[in-house]
Amino acid sequence: MNVLKQLREQFEHILASYTDEPSTYAAMIKPAGDPRFGDYQANCAMPLAEKVGKDRREIAGELVAALDVAELCEKPEVAGPGFINLKLRDDALEAAVNSLVNDERLGVDQVAQPRKIIVDFSAPNVAKPMHVGHLRSTVIGDALYRILGFLGHDVSGDNHIGDWGTQFGMIIFGYKHFLDEAAFAEEPVTELSRLYRLVNQLSDYHASLLELPKLRDTLAERKQDLANAEQAADPQDKKAKKAIKQLSGQVAGLNEKIAAEEQKQAVVDNDPSLKALADAHPDIAVQARQETAKLHVGDAENRRLWEQFIPVCLEALQKIYDRLEIKFDKSLGESYYQPMLADVVADLEAKGIARESEAAVCVFVEGFDAPFIVQKTDGAYTYATTDLATVKYRVDELGADAIIYVVDARQGGHFQLLFESVRQWGYTDVELQHVSFGTIMGKNKRPYKTRSGDTVGLESLLDEAVAQAHRIVSENDDAKPGGAELDGADRQRIAEIVGLGGIKYADLHHNRESDYVFDWEKMLATNGDTATYMQYAYARVCGILRKADADREALRQSAGAIRIGHNAERQLALALIRFPEALEQAAAEYRPNFLTEYLFKTAGVFSTFYEHCPVAKAETDELRTSRLLLCDLTARTIAQGLSLLGIHTSEQM
Ligand code: ARG
Repeated sequence: MNVLKQLREQFEHILASYTDEPSTYAAMIKPAGDPRFGDYQANCAMPLAEKVGKDRREIAGELVAALDVAELCEKPEVAGPGFINLKLRDDALEAAVNSLVNDERLGVDQVAQPRKIIVDFSAPNVAKPMHVGHLRSTVIGDALYRILGFLGHDVSGDNHIGDWGTQFGMIIFGYKHFLDEAAFAEEPVTELSRLYRLVNQLSDYHASLLELPKLRDTLAERKQDLANAEQAADPQDKKAKKAIKQLSGQVAGLNEKIAAEEQKQAVVDNDPSLKALADAHPDIAVQARQETAKLHVGDAENRRLWEQFIPVCLEALQKIYDRLEIKFDKSLGESYYQPMLADVVADLEAKGIARESEAAVCVFVEGFDAPFIVQKTDGAYTYATTDLATVKYRVDELGADAIIYVVDARQGGHFQLLFESVRQWGYTDVELQHVSFGTIMGKNKRPYKTRSGDTVGLESLLDEAVAQAHRIVSENDDAKPGGAELDGADRQRIAEIVGLGGIKYADLHHNRESDYVFDWEKMLATNGDTATYMQYAYARVCGILRKADADREALRQSAGAIRIGHNAERQLALALIRFPEALEQAAAEYRPNFLTEYLFKTAGVFSTFYEHCPVAKAETDELRTSRLLLCDLTARTIAQGLSLLGIHTSEQM
């Protein structure tokens, strides 16, 4: 049961006689921000009045008069310019919260019309080690997968791994020229990623040799411009001042770039063996590209190498997924779609959607300067072509109603072009969403890197999280008034769920579009909006039930026994019945942070309740049972909510 939904339905009914978009206005009913204004607030009267040209309070009055919510709410009140305040009746709230006691789904209805939803998430480019940048897609995608599935949709998680990209040319080149056989036999993935980094470094070195003189020339020009501008400028002239500021900014930026290039070169120049390799392979970038091209046209040797690399790379990925308990229904990587690409391009051309332009084949989309290139001048297909083939496959073969792409915001342009091209191609019914997210930053406000400037490997990050969590869990246990309660194995098990939960939650509780700063201390804090806090809140509620000797199964036989007296009980009951609202909101906007927000609030409301309402020592048996039931529901709601975010709980911590 979803009270908000019921209220909206009631309003929609009445709103239909004012507008042909009643659901838009009904959506303006929201939980009230401030309990003084009731539990829910309808803000639809004002915009509606504007639309139909009537007085705002008058419309609000009419809506209230027509509304049939007497069984659910006390008499609605019109406030201010036309807000409608709704307060649930205590008996209705009691009935609602009591109905949850034996409801496994905690009031969450299954959707009436399940949709086939493909969640495209994680999707790392293989053969490079998985790093912190892959975390967000993996964690957000998994949470959405779980939430949509719980709501009853037919969800399919698809790991669209990058297993066909240009990195393979680099690795193949590295393998042919620089392989350390013993290292490869021992730890193939580590050796492959060393080869990748080495080839990358040498290509960069040569690119830098060409780039640096150009940068220096530009710097000299800008410096001259700046000097001229400074000499000519009248100190009163604001425009000139602005131009000078701009030029100095450019000079500073160029100096920074030059320093970075010099640094890059110095690393190679100062290492005789690296320098020898660089000198021996001046055209390494071209050669690596040729290895990719050979792989793509079916060269037997490169194909054999690729087939040798892929399974070991996938195995390494799987280790991380297992640890994070991430599951996919499919892992159809880019290579899977390669046999379909020629047909895709031919079809697009035949339908007049793609055409040749400067020897490449492109789809042009109105409003975009750059076209969507589906075949390059050298005949190669692109990331774009693969994604077009993937949409076709998912709709035609898998019957997708919706495809959601959980991918970095920096690919926004790609997805806009993809979605527009797909529409032109005739796929107009499928919902396509780019669930985009920002970057994980270091404390220096730059993308999170290790001190040496490397990206942070995901595996070591998870180990670090668990180690830090172990310290926190142990300190907390040692500080218990009656002495420590956990043995070594318990501490380790709990450290694992706190550490991994902490990392996931930190990622999920932000508005996904914003960048966020990776901060161990904040992430694992026992107080604040963290998994640790939620996990301790859960353990605390379980502790209360345990100390009261409550048999939770038996307790639930007394469904109907919850009574609302104290305001803190009322607030807790209200929070508990809102679990479906939070989930539906998270699903509607593909935003897990609506669920974390809800859980955090609910834990807070529980704290207030426990401060004011004795449970085990309640004045009467009836009151005790009622409050124990509220505790039981709180524990179940927190555990269920966290589990939909892929986070575990422990009854004792
Ligand atoms: N492999 C890509 C990357 O690492 C992400 C793929 C996302 N999914 C897709 N269908 N394009 O950038």
